[in-house]
Amino acid sequence: MKDLKTIRGMPDLYDLDIERISRVENICMEVFKSFNYQEFRTPIIENKSLFQRSAGETSDIVQKEVYEFDDRNGETLCLRPEGTAGLVRALITNGLLSEEIKKYFYLGPMFRYERPQKGRKRQFFQAGVELIGEGSSKSDVEIILVGKTILDKLGINFCLEINYLGGEESLNSYRTYLREFLQENKDSFEEKLYSRLQRNPVRAIDSKDENIQKVIKDAKDITNFLTDEEKQLFAETVDTLDQLKVDYKINTNLVRGMDYYTGTVFEYTVDSLGAQNAVIGGGRYDNLIKELGGKDLPAIGFALGIDRLSEIISLEGKTKDVFIGYAEAKSVSYAQDIGNKLRLNNGSLVIENYLGNANVSKQLKKANSLGFKFVIIVGQEEQNTKIFKVKNLTQDEETTLNEVELMEFFNG
Ligand code: HAM
Repeated sequence: MKDLKTIRGMPDLYDLDIERISRVENICMEVFKSFNYQEFRTPIIENKSLFQRSAGETSDIVQKEVYEFDDRNGETLCLRPEGTAGLVRALITNGLLSEEIKKYFYLGPMFRYERPQKGRKRQFFQAGVELIGEGSSKSDVEIILVGKTILDKLGINFCLEINYLGGEESLNSYRTYLREFLQENKDSFEEKLYSRLQRNPVRAIDSKDENIQKVIKDAKDITNFLTDEEKQLFAETVDTLDQLKVDYKINTNLVRGMDYYTGTVFEYTVDSLGAQNAVIGGGRYDNLIKELGGKDLPAIGFALGIDRLSEIISLEGKTKDVFIGYAEAKSVSYAQDIGNKLRLNNGSLVIENYLGNANVSKQLKKANSLGFKFVIIVGQEEQNTKIFKVKNLTQDEETTLNEVELMEFFNG
């Protein structure tokens, strides 16, 4: 039945997938808040023109990846392929831009009509940050540190790749040079590919196409086109990273997929992920806010691929706290009462009141297989004496506690 099929590249998420995704999301949020970034939520749908003006008319995203449609009013809208443009649009629309530094984060689904493969979906989840209003290496370093802190907290081995793209003038002279270089090698490309590369020559630099790579490896890199001032700015960023003992690799082929980037760009990659190995991508976009009609303010940010990271994190052994089973059917409501007292006593506990019909030994097995750390079985005896046996499933130990002690035990 066609209408009951999941859409390609948009899997349903449940069970362990969701546990992994939540863990990544929670750590992202914790770290964003600890750096004092504020949450921002923008709609999933925007005008398509927003992405034509930001990611760029010739970018892959706009050329082939947006899910676009006309609404009932005839406006061309699309599902957002990324979060930066929407946030900038919202800051302008809501009059939130000033000379003060602004720091925002967002989490949510993004949509790109790409060929699905491992690590690449058509609906995927990003967590992003944007730091607006500060143009020096100070904010480059802060943004890079936000990303590093998340990956460290997730216990991931990563590589930080960094490059500097330069402002409009440097990038334009690089584009002119690359166009001439491509023209000299015109015979190596098919007509259609050649004209696509001429439209957006910088993308040839990080192309995965072997044919393009073979030719472009002999071209000069962006460093040759940077002004002394730009070289100095990049040197400040990498010097600070050195001082902070943050390892990085300068990759002059890192040019990123959207046209709005200027200055520092970076990616965090994880080898074990295979072809789609970027888990965080970001950089400076000092002209975007002005180009979209806002104030002339510098900005830098990144987005993290939640799905990709969720595939490689390890979940902690037992993640749930207390399983409360029952010895006799008439003790269920008392077991629910104890469960609720524990929940009110400590709101962060995950407590399951068993509702099925299995016997006590099967309940214990169930608690174990569901990943609970503790089990309490409640029966008439517990109801009469108010004394409970708390079984620790991780250490195979049992502790006997009265009700007050029980509350204290689970309050730590
Ligand atoms: P991006 O490099 O296009 O940058 O995406 C950031 C991250 O999202 C990637 O490194 C990857 O982990 C994840 N990602 C991208 N596409 C997919 C996909 N099809 N399936 C699964 N994961 C994916 C941006 O989106 C920019 N807005 C980042 C930024 C913020 N730059 C400045 N501020």
